[in-house]
Amino acid sequence: MSNAEDIIEPPPPVLSVSPASLNGDNGNNCSNENSTGTASATHCVTAIDNTATSVTGSHNPGSSRGQKATEAGEPQTPPAYRVTFRGRATLGKNPEQSILNVLRLTCVDSFKSPDFQGRVQEIKKAFYARDFDAIFLTPENLPVYSAMYTPRRALCYYQMFTSEPELVKVLRQRKHIYCLGAGSGSELLGISAAFCHVAAPAPDHKVPRATKEAKPLVIHTQDYADWTPVLTRLEDSIRRKWGVTEGEHIRCEYSQNNLMEIRQELRDELGRADLVTVMFVFNELFTAKSKAMEFVKAMVMHLRRGALLLLVDSAGSFSSVKVGERNYMSHMFFDALKSHFKPLISDDARWYRHPAQLDYPLPVENMRYFIRLYQKL
Ligand SMILES: C[S@@+](CC[C@H](N)C(=O)[O-])C[C@H]1O[C@@H](n2cnc3c(N)ncnc32)[C@H](O)[C@@H]1O
Repeated sequence: MSNAEDIIEPPPPVLSVSPASLNGDNGNNCSNENSTGTASATHCVTAIDNTATSVTGSHNPGSSRGQKATEAGEPQTPPAYRVTFRGRATLGKNPEQSILNVLRLTCVDSFKSPDFQGRVQEIKKAFYARDFDAIFLTPENLPVYSAMYTPRRALCYYQMFTSEPELVKVLRQRKHIYCLGAGSGSELLGISAAFCHVAAPAPDHKVPRATKEAKPLVIHTQDYADWTPVLTRLEDSIRRKWGVTEGEHIRCEYSQNNLMEIRQELRDELGRADLVTVMFVFNELFTAKSKAMEFVKAMVMHLRRGALLLLVDSAGSFSSVKVGERNYMSHMFFDALKSHFKPLISDDARWYRHPAQLDYPLPVENMRYFIRLYQKL
């Protein structure tokens, strides 16, 4: 979203896509998964359940979110197939396509909406005006935003969390990840896929069942907008398609609070996390510079020593912030705090280029971003 090209590019021809192809899911989870999520072999499907909620249940009871998508009036979904989690094999031979299939299943109703193109234009206009509240505080925009911008980011985060050793370690050790401004689901989807990829299979190629000591990875998604309907659907799709369970693999938590008003709940969560992600959100806080600086201060004060902070955003001018007469890239505010943050990864411009021939109802963009991974000193 954050690139100027994204803002001015014409809307994609979504209405030409047939509803049948948008369903994109038969629940199978086999290694030869194709672009519609179907597969010829079905041995990996272990049980069938007709309720969409039966594979969920990981909503944090203590969080300010937790309503299931079905309770919010979820329209008809295909039958839910409970599949067995099989580590990397879970994602099949084409993990990127599997990621898009999960998203397509999640967004199926948005794609069918006659309102889709109009919303896309509204969102682009608001980005151009940097009116983020107009985008994210309009509930009808949120599923459209996710359908549109989550694919490239989820794919990019999948690559990031499977290729950077420090991030792989966080997943293998099943740590606590706190994802700020992450309501649209890119982090939940990309990191969940990466978890499947790196989860070490036993010698018989099966992932061991939970032992008493086993604990799930925690992905806590924070945002100031109410993304509950999108996130709970996405979580359902992840569990249904990849067999990821709450007890053995990933626990999902959600909370709603504003990064511009650092309250106690946020401080507590910052102190609890092993990894805090701030991806494509820090720039948006600069609509009020003093609040953005308060946010930086909160990171200094409340992240625990040794915790990791992952800061990712557009490598382009969208990330540049004017202070006085000078322009600064937003990462410079953290780079300057050398006595608090040790950079483990520091790259001002990287490209994520997705594999060719992915199938999704909208064009999937490549993206150019900067990345910083800091360790709190
Ligand atoms: C550009 S989107 C990025 C979403 C996600 N991190 C990703 O990488 O795809 C910005 C997100 O930040 C959230 N956001 C914007 N301002 C916020 C604030 N003040 N506090 C918390 N979240 C905020 C929006 O609701 C939205 O989900």
